[in-house]
Amino acid sequence: MTLEEKRIFFEIDCTERKLWNFTEIFGNDNQVYLEIGSGMGEFLRMRALINHNRNFVGIEIKDKRLKQIINNLDVQRHSNVRVARLFVDDKVTEVIPEGSIKKVFINHPDPWPKKKHHKNRLIQPAFIDTLNRIMKRKGIVWIATDDQDYAKWIVDKFSVRPDFESMYEEGFSRDPEAGHIVTYFEEMKRKEGFPPYFLKFRKKCSLENIKPNLSEDKRIMKND
Ligand SMILES: C[S@@+](CC[C@H](N)C(=O)[O-])C[C@H]1O[C@@H](n2cnc3c(N)ncnc32)[C@H](O)[C@@H]1O
Repeated sequence: MTLEEKRIFFEIDCTERKLWNFTEIFGNDNQVYLEIGSGMGEFLRMRALINHNRNFVGIEIKDKRLKQIINNLDVQRHSNVRVARLFVDDKVTEVIPEGSIKKVFINHPDPWPKKKHHKNRLIQPAFIDTLNRIMKRKGIVWIATDDQDYAKWIVDKFSVRPDFESMYEEGFSRDPEAGHIVTYFEEMKRKEGFPPYFLKFRKKCSLENIKPNLSEDKRIMKND
């Protein structure tokens, strides 16, 4: 099968911003797991084989990486995988329906280590609002980062929120869970001496139920 033929099968067309209908896309109503920033696609490829009764959507902004991901997918074995070339930000609600995602995986998001670049970090209060909107109740966000400062930043951003709870007592874990998939970036960073921080947050309730408290939290964070 050529790359072009695979693209037709695996890629969700994002030229037009319209809400994705997962039942139509996958031809079933299985739970949808989303990976943001799929990179070379190891996680998507392997996890989709393990959880064949789940639907996986991988989003990646770089076309070259997206082509690589698609090239390594197999139409039969990865029939539960789709990918999209998209820059994920607060506006992702234009394509991902509210309450449609059971799990979100963010493996090694760009850490933007310089303080003046922190505004570029994916995990921001407004983006956590967006996660809340697209996720089902009790849905889980899994994040892995090799950057200690970003790990602390993420814990801080989630810990002030009444709509998410950390599933780790200390806010993070240094131990991978059973069945953990080592991605390209994780392997690279481990070799450099930076093993990951694992973070896991469960959605407790939707935004509508906590709006007054949330704006209070935002005010507190802005004055930090
Ligand atoms: C550091 S790499 C990690 C890749 C992969 N998850 C891994 O662990 O090997 C971050 C990836 O996220 C992609 N990316 C960064 N920001 C993004 C965004 N806002 N939307 C979609 N993809 C993004 C980058 O192109 C890159 O492939």
